[in-house]
Amino acid sequence: MTIRTVETTPYDDQKPGTSGLRKKVPVFQQKNYAENFIQSVFDSLDGFSGKALVIGGDGRYYNREVIQKAIAIAAANGFGKVIVGKGGILSTPAASHIIRKYMAFGGLVLSASHNPGGPHEDFGIKYNIGNGGPAPEKITDAIFARTKAITSYKIADMAEVDIDRIGTVQAGGMTVEVIDPVEDYAELMETLFDFDAIRAMFAGGFRMRFDAMHAVTGPYAKEILENRLGAPKGTARNFVPLPDFGGHHPDPNLVHAKHLYDEMMGPDAPDFGAASDGDGDRNLIIGKGIFITPSDSLAMLAANARLAPGYEAGLKGIARSMPTSAAADRVAEALGVGIYETPTGWKFFGNLLDAGMATICGEESAGTGSDHVREKDGLWAVLLWLNILAVRKESAKAIAEKHWATYGRNYYSRHDYEEVESDAANRLVSELRAKLPSLPGTKVRGLTVEAADDFAYHDPVDGSVSKNQGIRVLFEGGSRFVIRLSGTGTSGATLRLYVERYEKDRFDLDTQQALADLIAAADDVAGIRSHTGRQKPSVIT
Ligand code: G6P
Ligand code: ZN
Repeated sequence: MTIRTVETTPYDDQKPGTSGLRKKVPVFQQKNYAENFIQSVFDSLDGFSGKALVIGGDGRYYNREVIQKAIAIAAANGFGKVIVGKGGILSTPAASHIIRKYMAFGGLVLSASHNPGGPHEDFGIKYNIGNGGPAPEKITDAIFARTKAITSYKIADMAEVDIDRIGTVQAGGMTVEVIDPVEDYAELMETLFDFDAIRAMFAGGFRMRFDAMHAVTGPYAKEILENRLGAPKGTARNFVPLPDFGGHHPDPNLVHAKHLYDEMMGPDAPDFGAASDGDGDRNLIIGKGIFITPSDSLAMLAANARLAPGYEAGLKGIARSMPTSAAADRVAEALGVGIYETPTGWKFFGNLLDAGMATICGEESAGTGSDHVREKDGLWAVLLWLNILAVRKESAKAIAEKHWATYGRNYYSRHDYEEVESDAANRLVSELRAKLPSLPGTKVRGLTVEAADDFAYHDPVDGSVSKNQGIRVLFEGGSRFVIRLSGTGTSGATLRLYVERYEKDRFDLDTQQALADLIAAADDVAGIRSHTGRQKPSVIT
């Protein structure tokens, strides 16, 4: 086998964001763009010689091409083995599980998550470490530094590997194993959840919709929900992964999965509706007649987790990202377990999970998961809900209402201003930051500011500090708003406003109305409309 060293010139824009390097496909198609990044990843790691690397993606446009490049570069760099999902498919949580189960050195997850796919849409590469989770910042910083200095990459001269045939071959001087992308993951789910109880619920006529949005969870949902749990055929919709996700945004929110929402609110709604995103790590949960916000879902799953065999022993702790509502905090308090508030980005949960400080984690951005893998996990959340519904024999709506009656309700909403001009967005944030010290004690729209800061996280496990993770303005009585810039957008800036209000005994208000004062207060304080020139958000969730 010949290894070629190819000269290259660096790109200056390969900074991994919240979740790996994400760019438009034409950017990735530039000469050596993917090669440079993959080589920079390997150059930033130590000790992988002879070890295994997992490679898989969500099946989006350009997935197969990058998988072939990654295999050849891994071979040239001395990996002993590559484990690839058949057809190049591995959901993000399944990739995390495969890395852990087969004790691989790490993995390359090819995805741009919930962003659209296709020749002019998004692609992404993320490196996950041996615990199955996204690489921590010290590695992604090293990767970025390397991308700016790289002068050559190594690639094996090898024929394309047939990734559509399950089995093991020798290629490029290493072992290439093509695996069923679903099998190991489905087995793991069987160890965590009461499949008998869920099966009995379906057998009793329980009806459900799962919308895979033409993305990676299709084959997983078919196998687990329909084949293993006996849900009626047709329960999984849009289950064939397509390179362009059928032209839709594979983002399971109330905008892009509106059809599901409408169905669940309609007269013939099934009992339960759910969806997942491009790479299978996000979830949308809608009960008959009720949308469960991700923040509430985290709290409700945590409160009921013991009903599932995998969590029978109880939770060690709960973690949530800072902009996620404090609903889970009340559950943690009631359970007498720790609650951790981390910056946005699943990678910040890794240390807490590894250290056994948290069992369940969640984010307002529709991510929930546990210590079973080191990524958030869309189908896991759906299955935990099903397990709870099967054991409690109540509707999702009844469970939510009883939850609020016990803990109170955190009304919550996120307003996104997408593709805002970057300079304007940065100006808004820096002006707001400058104002923070003067805010406490002032009154806005009848609300008194109790505290205001730019969130900094002190990781209790490794002592690292992450600053500037979002501006929060907290009011007396537990209401607050948070403003931060998205780390996952690919054009312009996306400004996110998160608003939250705690109500002890009124649970039937309209969310946007319940939050109207806070939304107005945020605009008064931050000047959202004046800075962005937008009268209203692009997306409200
Ligand atoms: C990705 C990450 C999540 C994060 C989300 C929010 O999905 O995996 O952990 O919460 O992005 O990103 P953004 O920076 O756009 O708010
Ligand atoms: Zn995702």
